[in-house]
Amino acid sequence: MSEMYDLIIIGAGPGGYVAAERAGHMGKKVLLIEKAHLGGVCLNEGCIPSKTLLNSSKYYTHAKHAETFGVKVEKVSFDLGAVMQRKEKVIDTLRKGIAYQMKRHHVEVVTGEAVIKGRGEVAVGETVYGTRNILIATGSSAIRIPIPGHDLPHVATSREMLQIGALPKKLVVIGGGVIGMEFACFASDLGVEVTVIEMLPEIVPNFDNDIAETLRKALKGVTYHLGAKVEAIEPDKVLFSKDGKQQSVEADFVLMSVGRAPNVKGIGLEQVGVDITRQGIVVDDQMRTNIPGIYAIGDVTGKMQLAHTASRMGEVAVKTMFGLQDRMRYHAVPWVVYTHPEVAGVGVTEKEAAAKGLEVQVSKLPLKASGRFLAENDSRAPGFCKVIVDAKSKVLLGCHMLGADCSEIIYGAAAMIEAELRVQDIRDIIYPHPTVGEVMRDALWEIEI
Ligand code: NAI
Repeated sequence: MSEMYDLIIIGAGPGGYVAAERAGHMGKKVLLIEKAHLGGVCLNEGCIPSKTLLNSSKYYTHAKHAETFGVKVEKVSFDLGAVMQRKEKVIDTLRKGIAYQMKRHHVEVVTGEAVIKGRGEVAVGETVYGTRNILIATGSSAIRIPIPGHDLPHVATSREMLQIGALPKKLVVIGGGVIGMEFACFASDLGVEVTVIEMLPEIVPNFDNDIAETLRKALKGVTYHLGAKVEAIEPDKVLFSKDGKQQSVEADFVLMSVGRAPNVKGIGLEQVGVDITRQGIVVDDQMRTNIPGIYAIGDVTGKMQLAHTASRMGEVAVKTMFGLQDRMRYHAVPWVVYTHPEVAGVGVTEKEAAAKGLEVQVSKLPLKASGRFLAENDSRAPGFCKVIVDAKSKVLLGCHMLGADCSEIIYGAAAMIEAELRVQDIRDIIYPHPTVGEVMRDALWEIEI
């Protein structure tokens, strides 16, 4: 057996590599084991590549409509090969950045498949490493619903979709969640005929209906079948049922974006007796599993499948194992859908407030109230900001926005919710002018206190 590590981390996604960095920063002896590339799904086949593609499709759309802003562009075309090359370059640069950070924090990195052999023992092939703590950060994988035709060559998950060599003519997206809508937006920006089939009555079900409906209508090139159940995929069409009737839609490419399942297999969890449910590895608020010395973070816990949540969970786990106080709180985690327009939210939605019986005050203003928004967007562009406040204490509980750039504003609201600021506290904060974020402050001024 090797010399003793303070911590062995399995999986180098935004959960694992951030935890490694924090533990290394504390002077701990850390080993990070990854079977593929540094950065995990987020960097290599998720958040970063999809945002790179969406940015290119946004520029393409802007160029096509440049005349709105008094700019004449003669011939606009989209070079998918060049866009994909740029995406690979972005990934490569960021991978190198993580490798550099690991080196800087004296984290050892091993490439290979890790298997937990027992408490304090992790093997990669024949080599067994000894450790005081194990942190599982193995992430999740896209689900494929086992309907007839799910394994046909033109059926992809987001992973394969990010590698396509040519644009399809007719794309069917199964699942109108976050991934589905981001790809629907990308493809429809580029002129692909896109149809979204969603099982529930509305897309992006985590958000309030006003947001979901505005987003749905804003993506004008997309056709929707809501409350529809996909039954089979054929080489040239997708069959589904809606209101008891069988229907079909033509497709030369199908994206399955119906959720992700935790990666719990093949890492030795059963041997050591780590508690697992269908959702993932069971952890407490300090990321402990039921086995002392074994912690889990990120998508593999099924708590909240977001890169930034995984990173924060990693920090909590590291602090906990090395004797510092911290606790995971999920009420102020921001969400973003990087469509055009973007959607961003944090905290309680109106739906949740109603379900929990919370007494709230709600105020909603259009983003057109912002000079910056109007200056930089088509006057017909949709956009609004909604704030949700506790009716008694006046503490901000939620903020939800739709419109260009709201992904870059939302963390301000997250900080306010985390700090439990009241309307009267927020009114004293100075926002830069002119910015889109000012609408949030204006919306809060509409709340009676
Ligand atoms: P999701 O859970 O967001 O959405 C899946 C959608 O598919 C749901 O609306 C569901 O009702 C629908 N669905 C499920 N089965 C279906 C069926 N048989 N027929 C039709 N519709 C069906 O899952 P998604 O989009 O795959 O994303 C996975 C995870 O990745 C999410 O939890 C998300 O948080 C995370 N993610 C976050 C991103 C972001 O923060 N921007 C970007 C990409 C992924």
